[in-house]
Amino acid sequence: MSASWRPSIPGRVVEWHRTIDTTMRAAAELAFLGAAAGTIVGADEQTAGQGRMGRTWYSPPESGLYFTVILRPELDVRQLPLVTLALGCAVHDAILLLAGLYADLRWPNDVLLSEKKVCGVLTRYEHEAVLAGIGLNLNHESFPPELAGQATSLKLETGRTFAREEWLRFLARSIDTQVNILTRAGADSVLSAFTVRSTYTERRRVIVDEQTRGTTAGLSPDGFLRLRTDSGDLVTIHAGGVRPLD
Ligand code: BTN
Repeated sequence: MSASWRPSIPGRVVEWHRTIDTTMRAAAELAFLGAAAGTIVGADEQTAGQGRMGRTWYSPPESGLYFTVILRPELDVRQLPLVTLALGCAVHDAILLLAGLYADLRWPNDVLLSEKKVCGVLTRYEHEAVLAGIGLNLNHESFPPELAGQATSLKLETGRTFAREEWLRFLARSIDTQVNILTRAGADSVLSAFTVRSTYTERRRVIVDEQTRGTTAGLSPDGFLRLRTDSGDLVTIHAGGVRPLD
C-alpha cells in the first residue's frame, strides 16, 4: 500500500481522506458550510460507499477513484436528472481520452465497458448544491464473486495501470465542461450528447421490472427514459434503471 496520497488541483479545494465512510456525507457537510462550487471530497477507501437505490458501492483501498464534487449550477432542482446525464458524458469522455476506450452509457447513470459497469454516478441535491458522486473502477484486478459478473475496471479491460491523480484532474475538468454545456447550451445539448454515447437510449430491448419490458424510445425533455412497452404503450421511466433483454 502506498503512502498517503494528497491530490491537488490548481484553483480548486480538494479534501482527500485515506479512509472515510462515504464522500457523499462529507460533501454534504461541506456544502452545508458553504463550500465553493468545484470543491472535491475524495478518499482512497470508503467503508460505506453508497450506490443508487440504497445499494453499496464497492470501494477497496486505492484501486478505484471515489470522490464527490460540489456543484452549484444555475439550474432548477427539477433538472437534476439532466445533471446525471451530463456527468455520464463527462466520464465517457475521460475514458475515451485517457484509456482510448469507447464506453457505453446506460440510463440513467451506468458507464459500461464490455457490458459491465466500470463507473457509477450518484447525484443528490442537498443544502442548495448538487453533490455529484463518482465511483470509477480504475485499477481493480478482481471483484468479489457477487459483483464479478457485472463489474469491470479499466485495468481489467486494458491490462494497464492508471494514475488516479491524472483521472481526477481530467474528470474534474470534464464535469465542468458538461455541466457548462447544460447551463449554457441547454437540455437538448445534453440529451443529444448522452444519446450519441449510449446504445441504450433508442431501439434497445430492455427490462425495467418483471411487469415492464419493451424497446427504448429516446429521452424525454427532462432526462427520463421513454419506453415502448411490449403491450404497445409509450411510457416514461422516472426511477430505477433498465437491463438488457437480448
Ligand atoms: C451507482 O451506480 O449506484 C452510483 C455509485 C456512486 C459511487 C460513488 S463513489 C464516490 C461517491 N461516494 C459514495 O458513497 N458514492 C459515490
